[in-house]
Amino acid sequence: MKSPIRVAVTGPAGQIGYALLFRIASGQMFGPDQPVILQLLEVPVEKAMKALEGVAMELDDCAFPLLQEMVLTSDPSVGFKNANWCCLVGAKPRGPGMERADLLKDNGKIFIEQGKVIDRVAADDCRVAVVGNPANTNAMIAASQAKRLSADRFTAMVRLDQNRAASQLAKKANVPVTAVSDVFIFGNHSPTMFSAFHLAKIQGKPASQVIGHQEWLRKEFQETVGKRGAAIIAARGSSSAASAANALVDHVHDLMTPGKVHSISVKSHGEYGFDPEVWAGMPVRTTTPGSYEVIKGLPLDEFAKERIAVTNKELVDEREMVKGML
Ligand code: NAD
Ligand code: LMR
Repeated sequence: MKSPIRVAVTGPAGQIGYALLFRIASGQMFGPDQPVILQLLEVPVEKAMKALEGVAMELDDCAFPLLQEMVLTSDPSVGFKNANWCCLVGAKPRGPGMERADLLKDNGKIFIEQGKVIDRVAADDCRVAVVGNPANTNAMIAASQAKRLSADRFTAMVRLDQNRAASQLAKKANVPVTAVSDVFIFGNHSPTMFSAFHLAKIQGKPASQVIGHQEWLRKEFQETVGKRGAAIIAARGSSSAASAANALVDHVHDLMTPGKVHSISVKSHGEYGFDPEVWAGMPVRTTTPGSYEVIKGLPLDEFAKERIAVTNKELVDEREMVKGML
């Protein structure tokens, strides 16, 4: 039996938390032979802590063989203590008519504090995955507070965009989603993100050849993926939850699986023209569990370069907005 890993999750009493915890505890994130200890960090508000107790009761009632222990707390230094993974979900979601960057003022503060505490108390091998929006810039904020843990340990999720893009391409080509590969997301988790259709494959052939409809790929496809979050808020009245939790399971699972090729938001080192101080979605290959290398040198045509410049500018602007906080 492997020794358990400690997984800290913030916002466990929220919407995503409710869709996420059961999947971690059942082994879908770390594998069917990896025991876990869940360290659940909520805000110190009675209603939230009470709701968290209810979620913990339900986790107990699942009798998951891999769930060794649960820690319920509103103290970040307890929640992140010795954590091997920190899933930073807890933050305000946007409502109708808002952009994710509108959350920066309120949510940014959370990531300042959590970045500091994680750096102080988490395990030496700790990895951090940020979901709370605006996720890219929040990851940059948390990483800016760390002295012990290097910047590459802090990633943000663009996997929901990758999954959305794969699903849209499959529908358009009328193939199962398993036929779609090499779907990479560049840039921000926002409507400016670039879903690189020119690199995507369908049954091993270039997606643009199979679909044969450049205008759809450049316009409707980009907009559907980029504005899917807002479409879900308009339809459901609240933001995506189960699909976001599913994307986080994929993000962490693939980061723990050597050889996996996927998109995550990482600190740029100037690859593909991104400013070296932003966290941008990029294609990566997992090297060893928890570590990755950015896949470099993929070809970019003029359209791709233009789109990357737009999403890069938005990331630079977000960084400027929070400069005073760092
Ligand atoms: P929610 O309001 O249902 O739940 C958020 C939970 O976080 C609440 O229980 C709240 O009490 C808790 N919380 C707030 N501040 C906290 C803190 N400092 N420490 C610990 N817990 C804290 O929201 P949700 O629908 O679960 O969404 C959470 C975040 O995820 C939002 O910012 C949302 O925009 C974002 N999101 C991101 C993606 C993505 O792809 N990156 C997808 C969906 C949602
Ligand atoms: C999403 O993409 O569904 C999330 O980021 C939630 C949102 O605000 O759109």
